[in-house]
Amino acid sequence: MAYSSKVVNRFEDVLKNPEKHGVGRFDPKDPNVVTGLAGAPACGDVMKLDLKLDPVTDQILDVKFKTYGCGSAIASSTMFVEMLKGKTLEEAKLIKDKEIADALELPPIKLHCSVLAEETIHKAIKDWEDKTAHRRHNNPPKDDDVPDGRWNWYGINE
Ligand code: FES
Repeated sequence: MAYSSKVVNRFEDVLKNPEKHGVGRFDPKDPNVVTGLAGAPACGDVMKLDLKLDPVTDQILDVKFKTYGCGSAIASSTMFVEMLKGKTLEEAKLIKDKEIADALELPPIKLHCSVLAEETIHKAIKDWEDKTAHRRHNNPPKDDDVPDGRWNWYGINE
């Protein structure tokens, strides 16, 4: 099995310049950072995806990753980082592993390496949903947060 030149070039470039490709992590205490972790049972490889989000628009402002895996998994991770930047979570949800695999010309035996990337975004979105639900629970809107008259409109102040 031969890797495509796209995989080889990407993998070698990550080794030379990991920051350019988003290798790393964000401060886990940042409330606008979410994480998705996924493993490939077939080979034991693991990918961790960190997203920095705009809390108002759900837009992905920046992306970082750490992957323990083969060259295809590393190349898939960097491709996924590029695909995710600037998208909303709804848009990111629509990116399929096949798009990553096609972009890198992964051979059939390596298709599962791109599945890892797709799984991490679903885990990260779940993390965001949990965090926002937790925030809403602990910080219900105050009168000042609500547009004029909205409480009255719903009859809450009546
Ligand atoms: Fe496991 Fe590529 S061989 S992710």
